Amino acid sequence: MVIIMLIDTHCHLEEALYEDIHEVINRMPGLMITAGTNRETNQEVLVRVKENDNVYGVIGIHPEFVDSYQEEDLKWIEEHLQDEKIVGIGEIGLDYHYDDTKKEEQKRLFERQIVLAQEYHKTVVVHSRDAILDTYEIMKKYPNVKFILHCYSSTIEMAERFLELNVLFGVGGVITFKNSAKLKEVVEKLDLEYILLETDSPYLSPEPYRGKVNEPANTAIIASKIAEIKGITKEEVIVKTGENAIRQFDLNIAL
Ligand code: NI
Repeated sequence: MVIIMLIDTHCHLEEALYEDIHEVINRMPGLMITAGTNRETNQEVLVRVKENDNVYGVIGIHPEFVDSYQEEDLKWIEEHLQDEKIVGIGEIGLDYHYDDTKKEEQKRLFERQIVLAQEYHKTVVVHSRDAILDTYEIMKKYPNVKFILHCYSSTIEMAERFLELNVLFGVGGVITFKNSAKLKEVVEKLDLEYILLETDSPYLSPEPYRGKVNEPANTAIIASKIAEIKGITKEEVIVKTGENAIRQFDLNIAL
């Protein structure tokens, strides 16, 4: 039997970001993995996964909060890593786009959380913006850890270097944008077994909804676009990327 499982591997299901979060979740005919970024949003991840059978979560401190997080936030994350339906640490990583004055602090925070993931056998969901080489150098030190590069935005050559590690690539709404030649090349050349679907809701809405509030149900639009680029069916994309997600996150679902 083939399980057709549409999985949005990366979204932010915070109540304040949507008009009606319950409707948004109900409209998604598959699974969602909601990502925390700081103390408050991590706590909300726990609420969301308890409320909804089809929502799983990852918790972590995003590089944006490198100045404001507290030691006890990392303790809290460690305490909740074994919770039911918490399937990883994220989103964590490096972001030099808005502020590159705290590189060393960001690297330290990123690496401390990878060490936690390694200890508890959890998958790491990585945010990397304008920092791909530093991201690679750190990840390379942890060949036993399963990683996901969320919203992958670098080149095919860089993607091929990452393949030596245990890494899958999250592809979202950007693939539908006209100016996404670099990502289209990545999707075209990378085997489907390395690709995951994601929306990053409520951000990065795909065409024709660009600029609007994004939601997990739009994962189907991403699947269609990938199918078009690779010349295969949408069902094939959904089945294979669903299996990839189940495997990379060790979701408790029979394949
Ligand atoms: Ni995100």
